[in-house]
Amino acid sequence: MKYIFGNWKMYLNATESVELAETLSSLSLPSGVTVAVFPTLLSFREVQATLASSSVAVGVQNVNWVPKGAYTGAVSAHLAKEAGARYSLIGHSERRYIFGEKDSDVGHKVQACEEARLTPVICIGETKEDVAENKRQYRLKKQMEAWLKQKDFSLPFLIAYEPVWAISNGGVGTPCSPTDAEDVIGFVKHELKNYTDVSVPVLYGGSVNERNCQDFLCCTSIDGVLVGSASTRFDSFITLLQASS
Ligand code: PGA
Repeated sequence: MKYIFGNWKMYLNATESVELAETLSSLSLPSGVTVAVFPTLLSFREVQATLASSSVAVGVQNVNWVPKGAYTGAVSAHLAKEAGARYSLIGHSERRYIFGEKDSDVGHKVQACEEARLTPVICIGETKEDVAENKRQYRLKKQMEAWLKQKDFSLPFLIAYEPVWAISNGGVGTPCSPTDAEDVIGFVKHELKNYTDVSVPVLYGGSVNERNCQDFLCCTSIDGVLVGSASTRFDSFITLLQASS
């Protein structure tokens, strides 16, 4: 099974999101591929309704960990689940480095997803400074420890390895090489073994597009891709999905 997840970030407005969802709902997807998209919260319900009878799942890009209450601007894991979300991205680097989310926040959010029975897609990744300081494994280990210690392994979850330096800005970026991504994902899976024997899907994300997607998907240890910018360009995303297997 390979996973192709589209993180629409804040790229599409509601009309564009629904149009893309309509296109996706009419596609016949390759077998053995699980597809999910993560629209903005303002488009979530319409996208979810559009894809309800298709095999494409819908997730949210972030959650708050308190179920309900006086939290202006926040949406909880419970509310996302109630609205029909199957997954939530947790700890995306843009949340960490633009909005100041800490490793401990990621831990709380993973727990909230467990309580709400929302499957977290936990994002981890090192910065270019980490690479320069030879701290890649240190950073990944630290980010993982924040939630691994209290993780309930009977509930499903995924990890997305997204090196921060490889994530595109407005579609311009340089991906990690598939061999490098395989090595790091091998390290992540090895670390996981210290906590569980459960096999956890680990996706690669960072400048994946319709031209390089297959290079990642054909690696046995890479269980899928988390695609940002290219998942919001109709032709790119559709080509990418149709070429995957
Ligand atoms: P990108 O984004 O594909 O535009 O690099 C990936 C992500 O941030 O999830």
